[in-house]
Amino acid sequence: MGKYKIGVLVGSLSKNSINRKLAEALVKLAPENFEFKFLDIGSLPVYNYDNDGDIPAAAKSFKQAIAETDAFLMVTPEYNRSVPSVLKNAIDTGSRPWGQNSWAGKPVAIIGASIGPCGTAIAQGHLRASLACLQMRQMNLPEAYITITDDFYNADGTIGVRTAGFLKTWMESFVSSVTKEVAKA
Ligand SMILES: Cc1cc2nc3c(=O)[nH]c(=O)nc-3n(C[C@H](O)[C@H](O)[C@H](O)COP(=O)(O)O)c2cc1C
Repeated sequence: MGKYKIGVLVGSLSKNSINRKLAEALVKLAPENFEFKFLDIGSLPVYNYDNDGDIPAAAKSFKQAIAETDAFLMVTPEYNRSVPSVLKNAIDTGSRPWGQNSWAGKPVAIIGASIGPCGTAIAQGHLRASLACLQMRQMNLPEAYITITDDFYNADGTIGVRTAGFLKTWMESFVSSVTKEVAKA
């Protein structure tokens, strides 16, 4: 069985992030040959094309990490009906300099959690548009718009019975999608 390197981007820097918690619970549902690495996007400088000729060290390392990764899992909150700036900044950073889009051709799946009933649907729509423009190969279905309720997690941090089955199926789809997309590359 081949090994797959998966980069995880969480669009929240909060130590209490419900999306980080969701990402941590999700990766536990994956098989052992999927190796997940949470990428640090919080220490990236704010993207500025004036620096394209001399890319900041953190941005350079981030682009190198993208190049060394087989596929991505992006777990996004919805901030003011869109993608949080920290995640958008990471996407912009990876996309430039012009002609050196590190995201092109990489498989990706997105998911997100909110405390509201929309479950990040609007943010995910915006995120999908950016990823399409960057020529990432998105898992289109199943979509996952998660609303965190009081019974979402069990006391030990595992996912409660109401959503566990759905997220298990979602992860199976992710694994199948990545396996197929990497084989095509
Ligand atoms: C700046 C800001 C804007 C927000 N805007 C939305 C929103 O548009 N839709 C929504 O469902 N929740 C919104 N929320 C509430 C988030 O769903 C909630 O704070 C959630 O915990 C954010 O995810 P995180 O904990 O992973 O950062 C917003 C929260 C913040 C801090």
